[in-house]
Amino acid sequence: MLLLASLLALVAAAAGVAGVLLFRGTDRQPRPLTDGGRPETDEAEGATSAAHKPSGVLRWVTTVDHRDIGLMYLVLGTIAGLWGGMDAMMLRTELLTPDPTVWDAETYNALFTAHGITMLFFFATPVFAGIANYFVPLLLDADDMAFPRINAIAFWLLPPSLVLARFGLITELIGKGIGLVVSALPGGADALAWTDPVARRLLALEPPGTGWTLYPPLSILIENQQVDLVLLALHLAGVATTLSAINFIVTVVLERGDGVNWANLDLFSWSILTQSALALFAFPVLGSTLIMLLLDRNVGTTFFLEPGGGPILFQHLFWFFGHPEVYILVLPAFGLISLILPKFSARRLFGYRFVVYSTLAIGVLSFGVWAHHMFATGMDPRLRASFMAVSIAIAIPSAVKTFNWIATMWNGRLRLTAPMLFCVGGIALFVFGGITGVFLASVPVDLPLHDTYYVVGHFHLIIMGIIPFSMFAASFYWFPLLTGRTYYQGLARAQAVVMTVGSFLTFMPQLVTGLDGLPRRYALYPETFLLGQQLSTVGAFVLGVGLMMWLFNVVQSARIGTPIEDADVWDLAETGQLSPEWARFAEERGESIPGTDDAYGDAPTDVDRPEGGFGDRSPVRLVAAVTAGVALLAAVGLFLLPAAGFQSTTDRLIRTLNRDYLLIAVPLAVLVEALLVYAVLRFRGNDDPLPTPENKRLEISWTVATALVLLFVAVTSYQVMGSQYVANVPDPETERPDGAVTVEVVAERFQYDVRYPAANVTVDDADVIYVPTDRPLYLETTSRDVIHSIHVPELSLKQDALPAESNVVHTRVTERGTYRLYCAEFCGTDHARMQAQIRALPPAEYRQRVDALGNESG
Ligand code: CUA
Repeated sequence: MLLLASLLALVAAAAGVAGVLLFRGTDRQPRPLTDGGRPETDEAEGATSAAHKPSGVLRWVTTVDHRDIGLMYLVLGTIAGLWGGMDAMMLRTELLTPDPTVWDAETYNALFTAHGITMLFFFATPVFAGIANYFVPLLLDADDMAFPRINAIAFWLLPPSLVLARFGLITELIGKGIGLVVSALPGGADALAWTDPVARRLLALEPPGTGWTLYPPLSILIENQQVDLVLLALHLAGVATTLSAINFIVTVVLERGDGVNWANLDLFSWSILTQSALALFAFPVLGSTLIMLLLDRNVGTTFFLEPGGGPILFQHLFWFFGHPEVYILVLPAFGLISLILPKFSARRLFGYRFVVYSTLAIGVLSFGVWAHHMFATGMDPRLRASFMAVSIAIAIPSAVKTFNWIATMWNGRLRLTAPMLFCVGGIALFVFGGITGVFLASVPVDLPLHDTYYVVGHFHLIIMGIIPFSMFAASFYWFPLLTGRTYYQGLARAQAVVMTVGSFLTFMPQLVTGLDGLPRRYALYPETFLLGQQLSTVGAFVLGVGLMMWLFNVVQSARIGTPIEDADVWDLAETGQLSPEWARFAEERGESIPGTDDAYGDAPTDVDRPEGGFGDRSPVRLVAAVTAGVALLAAVGLFLLPAAGFQSTTDRLIRTLNRDYLLIAVPLAVLVEALLVYAVLRFRGNDDPLPTPENKRLEISWTVATALVLLFVAVTSYQVMGSQYVANVPDPETERPDGAVTVEVVAERFQYDVRYPAANVTVDDADVIYVPTDRPLYLETTSRDVIHSIHVPELSLKQDALPAESNVVHTRVTERGTYRLYCAEFCGTDHARMQAQIRALPPAEYRQRVDALGNESG
């Protein structure tokens, strides 16, 4: 009842705000189509200016001004970001020691669930929505968003959904608070008896440990009602995002000012347009999926249970939303870097048109990659191949952007301000985040890496790399415009350096830990991973310090920073880059800046299509030289590095492929990073900047060079993927070769029951799984409850164990030995304790051992 009441109260509050906004009288005149266009009269413009707004709280609750709403988004996003960051700090603190000494496993699981949900839905999305709300109308030279009131509703749905999502923690604190206060009162004992039922109700809602991915059957089996609130919260957040996506699309399409057209639209608006289109397709699918999950939990439907749709259907639907969501977050980051980086390079963006095309290409391709999250589920190999192809292909437009950014800096006059340093740091992190993504796109290489720290490292290099870095860059770039004051420049530059170092320190060790096989979402881990985990934790604390530097800087500077003297704080007019938001800013301050009339967008105009810069052919030679250099280094590596010891046929195939890719990727990453660093050092304060040239040949040559490298990856991956030792095709037992040995593993929370069919022996809760060496081995996996995953890093084996379904891995173990087996799919409280050993013995010994097991149990 309490639950229902609190839920109703929240929904009512949201509906109330929406109602007020919808029916509130406004002195703005409706316009044809939409009402956010450029004001035709002074009177209309007055409607959004501060003078006509109510004061105090009422102003913020009733505002429909895009700037106010943008600021509110930014405040909400910052609060959520700090909250989610605190979760991350608590997670990392726990991982300082191999045992769960600081928090127990349940708290740990709840923490990473909350961290993921908070950061994705309430930090990253709202912050970009805030920046876009404030600046897209200004960049478009529009008066406001197309639908100002829908804009306000979309925002106001978010605070209640954040509260709902984290309600378990809030009620827990209130419950414990009541207990503490009441017991401290005189006569507390009597009062305690009275308040106890209330407190217990409050404590019944626990922060859930489902993982942000909410995979059923786990998310259906968990009884904690907070899971329902989280589902409702995400649904509400999805509605909010869809509403604002519609609003952004209409705004960019219909509200552009006279001087702004598709050929000179700024890159941030382009990316918001593309991102909104993605959101429009992705979020409704999330919404329906969440409703089906709610029904499965509460009404007894079987959308995601056997014998209904089954748990894999959920994964398809979830990732159909989930992977575009990644691009929904990263596209605005690309847009901000494309917008800000040229301003501090004293030249226009190199290859405007190609950057726009690559944005659109990412948008289209992002809907064809979702099942690369599911390569280990035992899906049809033909499906895996097509998702692999698109997942590899999407690296091309991302690489093209990186090259264009570096080319923009080349021959420019770089000013290493805080926004610029954040752009450069973000790109540096993105190079590693992007390249590690290609490894995960390749089916064979992905299998042993899936659900390990490698994946965590990969996506954090992007999601804690270029995404927040672009936000920090934007926060400092526009800080004077937002506050009329300057920030502490030295502190901001120091923060950029601290955070770049912190990010590398936190996430690079995770790549190594993952390559060594440690699954993610583990509250405890074997001692061998101690160093990597501790480095990562130290890095996280460095990031925490960086975040505090930012918070201190913006809060203090907004309060007491030196007021700016001149609207053109970055001296952009001098290089013809004073974009409309700054022009408007100057206008509102009553200043006039010469040469701002035609300062729209980033596209090259006829005026500056000069020679120089990259006008000659040399950069094509640069691309050729880089490609040749990488090829040479790869060949040398191949020659020098001896083949490592392999423990199984699968291991040999996959690790050889992985090594070949590393031989290309490492020199490539080092060279791109070197070019970036060289550009910074060489062109910093360069007195003789050259105007940005157009060079189609260069664009085409690096696109083709990237495509060729990726084609090599795709073809070789495809070859290995077809091997019987990787394909994991569930071929019938009659077709298995002579001497083949089958071992059946039934996973159940939190143990493995192992059956040796040939000897008709079953061992329940086995710590050791015996397998023969030098025989075709078929490991059949299934589950009795939720999804588990059999993960044996040293044999490069990975296969999900699904309820009511049997998966199979086929291999031949070549080395006698004992190999650690982990459960790699998050399955609940003791997920990290679900470990066992695979002991590989020569065939004769194996038979003896299994027979002995039969006698023991017998
Ligand atoms: Cu994780 Cu079983």
